[in-house]
Amino acid sequence: MPAERPLRVADASVIVHPDAESASKDAADRIERIVADAVAARGKAVLGMATGATPEKVYGLLAARVAAGALSLRDATTYNLDEYYPIQPLDPLSYRSYMHRHLFGRVDLAANRAHILDGTVPEHAAAEHAAQFDRWIEADGGLDLQLLGIGRNGHIGFNEPSDLPVDEFAALPTRLVDLHPITVADAVREFGSPEAVIPRALTMGVRAILAARSIIMLATGAKKAPIVAQALKGPITAAVPASVLRTVADRVVWILDEPAAADLG
Ligand code: PGA
Repeated sequence: MPAERPLRVADASVIVHPDAESASKDAADRIERIVADAVAARGKAVLGMATGATPEKVYGLLAARVAAGALSLRDATTYNLDEYYPIQPLDPLSYRSYMHRHLFGRVDLAANRAHILDGTVPEHAAAEHAAQFDRWIEADGGLDLQLLGIGRNGHIGFNEPSDLPVDEFAALPTRLVDLHPITVADAVREFGSPEAVIPRALTMGVRAILAARSIIMLATGAKKAPIVAQALKGPITAAVPASVLRTVADRVVWILDEPAAADLG
């Protein structure tokens, strides 16, 4: 099997793997090391989690390691990037359900340390709930890790493309947002039709994401190649949210498979 190849794209550190399996194993290995280092240093690990198709293999690997006794998440706390709004936690399409299926229901993580924005809060309380989520992360000492995927429009979490200046975009708090048309189109895969897609969501803000002590951006598959190249080689702009990760490049690693890296040149 061909080896992974490290790349420097401008200031970004990028690792290209032959396939999604090897990229996912790299991400799982790094998460395991971050947990071990944080628990050794502070007695706990605070992990920002992502949903979507991309991280499923990573969670499968982590769950298998916990089942085998090679890893424990007993000292971990997690904060997920986002949740549809409004949605019931038991709805199979909720990210609470996704995380239960792929990780929480399979590992030794305490139920009161696996935090996901609540798609059932009353609308008048959504802003306060979002602000509270940011305060919980801060009270936990900030994120040791944020795992990210990238949307075809460059979104991170549900921080969608924006015309804000970069510094204002980078300061965005956790909040209720409208989904971008490309995000809605991609969600048809789960929801069945465009009309069925829940068009709003609560998302962790760009500020909390960029403040993470370590960020893993995982992108696999040919569909991500154009946006990965734009985010890494185009201008740093809120119009391509993931490009803003280059403002904290020393804390970010991009883990790609060859198809996702195809447009990097
Ligand atoms: P995907 O989503 O893993 O399902 O492609 C990525 C994202 O939108 O962040």
